[in-house]
Amino acid sequence: MTMAMASVKGENVTVSAAAAPRMKKLASMLCMKGGNGDGSYLNNSQAQALHARRMLHFLEETLDAMMERSSSDKLFTAADLGCSCGSNSLFIVDVIVRCVSEAYESRGRDAPEFQVFFSDLPSNDFNTLFQLLPPLLAPVAGSLEGCLAAGEGAATATRPYHAAGVPGTFYGRLFPGESIDVFTSTFSLHWLSQVPEEVGDSASPAYNGGRVFVHRATEAVAAAYKRQFQADLARFLRSRAREMKRGGAMFLACLGRSSGDPADQGGAGLLFGTHFQDAWDDLVQEGVVEGEKRDSFNIPVYAPSLQEFRDVVRADGAFAIDRLELVRGGSPLVVDRPDDAAEVGRAMANSCKAVAGVLVDAHIGERRGAQLFERLERRAARHARELVEKMHFFHVVCSLSRHNSIANGCV
Ligand SMILES: C[S@@+](CC[C@H](N)C(=O)[O-])C[C@H]1O[C@@H](n2cnc3c(N)ncnc32)[C@H](O)[C@@H]1O
Repeated sequence: MTMAMASVKGENVTVSAAAAPRMKKLASMLCMKGGNGDGSYLNNSQAQALHARRMLHFLEETLDAMMERSSSDKLFTAADLGCSCGSNSLFIVDVIVRCVSEAYESRGRDAPEFQVFFSDLPSNDFNTLFQLLPPLLAPVAGSLEGCLAAGEGAATATRPYHAAGVPGTFYGRLFPGESIDVFTSTFSLHWLSQVPEEVGDSASPAYNGGRVFVHRATEAVAAAYKRQFQADLARFLRSRAREMKRGGAMFLACLGRSSGDPADQGGAGLLFGTHFQDAWDDLVQEGVVEGEKRDSFNIPVYAPSLQEFRDVVRADGAFAIDRLELVRGGSPLVVDRPDDAAEVGRAMANSCKAVAGVLVDAHIGERRGAQLFERLERRAARHARELVEKMHFFHVVCSLSRHNSIANGCV
């Protein structure tokens, strides 16, 4: 298998072939915090759930347009990429099943059988996700009625689809050719396949010494992160172009930014580039962590601008862009009492821990990881008001459909 890679010159993106074995290390350890504890993704993904519900109409629109041009096969296949271990993936799948079933019914057809693939990296806590799945309702004609939760999809009491887990990176092939009708991926594509190599290389002009994220970093660091994002997205699209059935569709939502400057990461910058950064510096100053240890840690996340995203989709050429928008989401800090500084501090530390805790622990160990998040909690509590006012995310929301011919290139 050859991986496709994008090279970027100015605003031009071209897709070329290159191997990427360095991805393996991150892909084998990156995951959201599993289980159902305080710092777990399951208990700290309410913000993503809210954002997903706000984007519901985009997803419904994508599915409606797809159903208008697709034939009514007896089997409908869907894959959610970067499903993680919370209930958001189940919500997205419920919407797909409901919309597609309604479209079949409006044509006087019985709903199809649904095969749904939940895909994430092998280190994902699939067990927690699978335990959230309601029991399978064997699909018989008309059985969907009363089975799917109406409207804002709460978890269903029974499950009108076959479910399977697919471990692997979405930056490579996951499925057989032309086998999937619809792909979704929410809040995952901003995770890079790796920290750009030069960012961790002290001899490189793009070395990010002293910092742990691209936010407020040098121009060279920002350019390296941007290149990595665009190369990764190109690989993602190449693979999906092979796997999607003709007439299929894809709905993507990931962190984005409104600024043209890649070193201004907006909400993601506030999450990983301010108090989290300061907490690392605290540990270095207190002698808990060596400076080199901090310098060799970087968060592999990049919030692209709309233009950066669009350039890659266009360069790939396999998909038509049906919709591409930057949507202002809410805050990642879901708190009952926004004026309670301690609660805001805790929410900030838990949000950060749920998504980056596993990487931190792998780098400095659980004990020092816990100290880092304690410092973060304290700092965030001291800046609670500012965080509540300023912390909000932007999301790139994108609907793509499959052209009849795939551009040349191999995956
Ligand atoms: C913030 S969670 C989003 C989960 C869920 N889609 C939601 O909307 O709440 C991001 C997920 O993307 C997954 N992820 C990151 N990089 C990935 C990759 N290269 N391939 C597959 N999954 C990846 C992570 O493991 C994580 O579970």
